[in-house]
Amino acid sequence: MDVVVSRLVEDAVLAARIGAMRAGGLALAVGGDRVARLLHRPWRRDPYPVYAELRAAQTRPGGGPVRSRIGITALATHASCEAVLRDRRFGVQPAGGGSRLGGRAAETGDGGSLLEPLDLSLLTLDPPDHTRLRRLAQPAFAPRRLAHYRTVAERVTGELLDAAVARSRTEGRFDLVRDLASPLPIAVISALLDVPEVDDERFARWGRALGTALDGVRSPTHARELADARTALRSMLAGLLDQRRADPGEDVLSALATAVDGDGATVDEALALAQLLLVAGFETTTNLIGNAVQALQRTPGHWAALAADPGLAAAAVEETLRFDPPVQLTARFAHEDLEVDGVPLRRDSGVLVLLAAANRDPAVHPDPDRFDLHREQAAPHLAFSGGVHYCLGAPLARLEGEVALRVLAERAPRLRLAGRAVPRVATVLRGPLSLPVTA
Ligand code: HEM
Repeated sequence: MDVVVSRLVEDAVLAARIGAMRAGGLALAVGGDRVARLLHRPWRRDPYPVYAELRAAQTRPGGGPVRSRIGITALATHASCEAVLRDRRFGVQPAGGGSRLGGRAAETGDGGSLLEPLDLSLLTLDPPDHTRLRRLAQPAFAPRRLAHYRTVAERVTGELLDAAVARSRTEGRFDLVRDLASPLPIAVISALLDVPEVDDERFARWGRALGTALDGVRSPTHARELADARTALRSMLAGLLDQRRADPGEDVLSALATAVDGDGATVDEALALAQLLLVAGFETTTNLIGNAVQALQRTPGHWAALAADPGLAAAAVEETLRFDPPVQLTARFAHEDLEVDGVPLRRDSGVLVLLAAANRDPAVHPDPDRFDLHREQAAPHLAFSGGVHYCLGAPLARLEGEVALRVLAERAPRLRLAGRAVPRVATVLRGPLSLPVTA
């Protein structure tokens, strides 16, 4: 009974906190605060006009990065975003520590927090811990390992599309997300961690649940789902880690097990890192494939061009990453008093780095709102961020995207949209939840 009561109290506290954060932000959004608008409907359905306004405000004479009343400064130009990502005077945690959402009132039984249900490992660490742990995961993306993942991606894409195209014949359509974009990254990450096939289904279920954590907690129910998935996944990974300590292989978990034994990482650090690889590589890659097919279908002549030359798949991936990136933004904290684009920032103040806005900056990408498969990429896009947190899985994401689009173009050259896409309602992640197509 006590447990039930305390859960109810916790849920009420959580609901109040989430509600208060939402209501405060919404009032500001309605009042014209463009940064707050990125967090709320209807603006976040199509954030690109808001990004354009923020960029215009930043670049006009006497302007500068827009400071929101939610207490954060937004960066919307390519130059300012890239500069902050590379600047060692910024970190992913406040220099003074603390200020993490949630706090003790929302702690779960195993030491997690309901408002921050997931230890996002590298994403929330500054050097030197970040440097030490990132080095441990690096071998998972060595060229020889990538060649192995390519074989897995090609086999799995072939199998998934055989089933999807057959379904399209009998039912008239299939769902690109459910039938290809979602299961493919899970299969590849299973290979990366060498998860036994018997656990694949549970692994996928928890990955799906935890992927939503990258966008924050929506409700007490969502918080509970995340906490439950986290606990279950952690126990599965802990079992695998033990097994690899006894019998190491070539996978990243074996490398982590060796590091734990050699004092290179604690068990908690190893488990959080393994968990991050699942979470960071799942929904992001799903969105990449979904956004690519959507853009190729909606831009006249583009799907036909890819179908005529599936070798253009890599170019399609790169242009999608620029035009409609799966991860729209990230954040940093100033570690000392400094200035960005003429605006002073005090130590520990936060900046929102709008990666998707930077990718449409006309100063570096001519005619930026046009999706163009044949675009000369004049400057690198920021879809994978920059500086020390540059996406560790970027080569794998590119590989999976390229294989998915190439094999799709080969097997379904006459692919067409076959109904309304269901968009994800989120701020950080962007991509369709469902995309009906016909082969
Ligand atoms: C299209 C797919 C992907 C996109 C758009 C993407 C995007 C990003 C971005 C923007 C960051 C940096 C965030 C920041 O600077 O705060 C990041 C970091 C990271 N990504 Fe990816 N990612 C993708 C796929 C993957 C995959 C497939 C994996 C691994 C299986 C992965 C693993 C990671 C890891 C481990 C980090 C943390 C790096 C660090 O903090 O040092 N990502 N990703």
